[in-house]
Amino acid sequence: MKFNWNYPTTVWVGKNRTHDLSIACENLKIDKPLFVTDKDLINLPFILNIISKLEKKFNKLSIFSNFSGNPIGENVDEGVIEFNKNKCDGVIAVGGGSALDVGKAIAFMCAQTRPIWDFEDIGEYWKRANEDKIAPIIAIPTTAGTGSETGRASAIINKKTGIKKIIFHPKFLPSIVILDPTLTLDLSPRLTAATGMDALAHNLEAFCAPGFHPMADGIAKEGIKLIKTSLVTAFKDGKNIEARQNLLAASCMGSTAFQKGLGAIHSLSHPINAQFNIHHGLSNAIFMPYVLTFNKNLIEDRIISICDELNLEKKFESFVNWILDLRKKLNIPHKLSDVLEIKKINIDKLSQMALDDPSTATNPKKMTIDDMKILYEHSISGKLFL
Ligand SMILES: [Fe+2]
Repeated sequence: MKFNWNYPTTVWVGKNRTHDLSIACENLKIDKPLFVTDKDLINLPFILNIISKLEKKFNKLSIFSNFSGNPIGENVDEGVIEFNKNKCDGVIAVGGGSALDVGKAIAFMCAQTRPIWDFEDIGEYWKRANEDKIAPIIAIPTTAGTGSETGRASAIINKKTGIKKIIFHPKFLPSIVILDPTLTLDLSPRLTAATGMDALAHNLEAFCAPGFHPMADGIAKEGIKLIKTSLVTAFKDGKNIEARQNLLAASCMGSTAFQKGLGAIHSLSHPINAQFNIHHGLSNAIFMPYVLTFNKNLIEDRIISICDELNLEKKFESFVNWILDLRKKLNIPHKLSDVLEIKKINIDKLSQMALDDPSTATNPKKMTIDDMKILYEHSISGKLFL
């Protein structure tokens, strides 16, 4: 079955839709694409298969893959050099969040004269951009988590400061997205769990963020439902195509919904990802119940309002228990200290970074530096705020 969605961008959905990649290039008038994927994916058979099909269409296919997880600004710079050297006119980004973020940033930065950090997601910095020559982007996710394919930003680490920055421009949104569940069938259970929990964090934090945005709320609610029905299934049976497709949908719904905002789960995670190279989805999964219970007074009614649809008893605690049970089923540890040596954790430094994170502004509870410290401390001791 093939499905075409036009919201929030053009999304082609279904088994083997990657076969339509050439049509996507034609639709966007891309004659010289830069194919962007990461070091870990470039030699996998399904990527080589996509490349060989593209090589039949284009005389010369330029490829950039000299980066891995948690990309830095220099990775984007190198990709831009490759893009310009080969006179490319579009980007095909294939991979997990890192590959999609780098591909989107290359398509954006090839048109800019300012450094990438001048486009951090602060106020109206994005208006500094030269919009005319931003290249079209086709995004094909191979994990179901970040939802970068339907997001208007890239997360890039500034090596000098060790801080992960959100680089934003509305034109980061890819022009065509292809959600092909066959590309995610070989994703390991460990990565299926971590990326799926990232997608859940996006939908959940967007749903709980303050502000009037019923469209985002509706999308987020449905995204949470899809994760509840499909994440454990895909974790246990990676070849279940329906579960894989549901997770891809939930992932891009999460990033669509979080235009409304994220919250402290992401604020606490970003410093941990940048400083210790711990998977973003894993740290989100660890922090989730601490932040949920910390925010309880402000989100209790909202959470209770979706319990019925999730087949949970209409109580805040039943939702928290579902999260705790889900983490157990996915073999995700309960404490930050289970994945990181305590002596490496500088709570004062991390708390300041978490407070400064752009996600902090839309946490339901207004956060202070002491709140961040308390949350890190509880995530080490394992004590929830109930
Ligand atoms: Fe995330």
